[in-house]
Amino acid sequence: MTTGPLLWLLHGPNLNMLGQREPDVYGSQTLESINTQSVTLAKSLGLRLESFQSNHEGELVDRIQQALGQNVKGLILNPAAFTHTSVALRDALAAVALPFVEVHLSNIHRREPFRSHSYFSDKAEAVVCGMGPLGYESAIRFFQKYLLTTTTPSR
Ligand code: DQA
Repeated sequence: MTTGPLLWLLHGPNLNMLGQREPDVYGSQTLESINTQSVTLAKSLGLRLESFQSNHEGELVDRIQQALGQNVKGLILNPAAFTHTSVALRDALAAVALPFVEVHLSNIHRREPFRSHSYFSDKAEAVVCGMGPLGYESAIRFFQKYLLTTTTPSR
């Protein structure tokens, strides 16, 4: 069995369609493949990683709340469209007070103006956007360092 600190990788709406969905914007890699790669990388760095995707805001809120009972040490979150709309997800993250990294496949600042605002970025430990699936890899590597050097939660 794999040991090490547990990370949760959470994906918001429409990310289940990666691979088919606007490949010119989001690339050709499927969510399943991103998740598999992420688990493998996390393992190689001495971390555990579990992933979850939902198209429903309330399910993501529930999942974030459950992180406390599961001894999760950090969250990697692509809130997708909820990035630009969801006070509920922002509040859930504040409630559990776990460090999180916000990831976007596309560069949200180079797209429609409404995508430039995020309800999460000012609370995130780090934000990665525009790097495609490499953003998830960066977030996992960030957490390896962060969890080794941070002994108490930053908030
Ligand atoms: C996204 C960017 C969001 O604006 C969009 O609604 C998504 C995906 C990204 O990964 O680039 O669904 O979060």
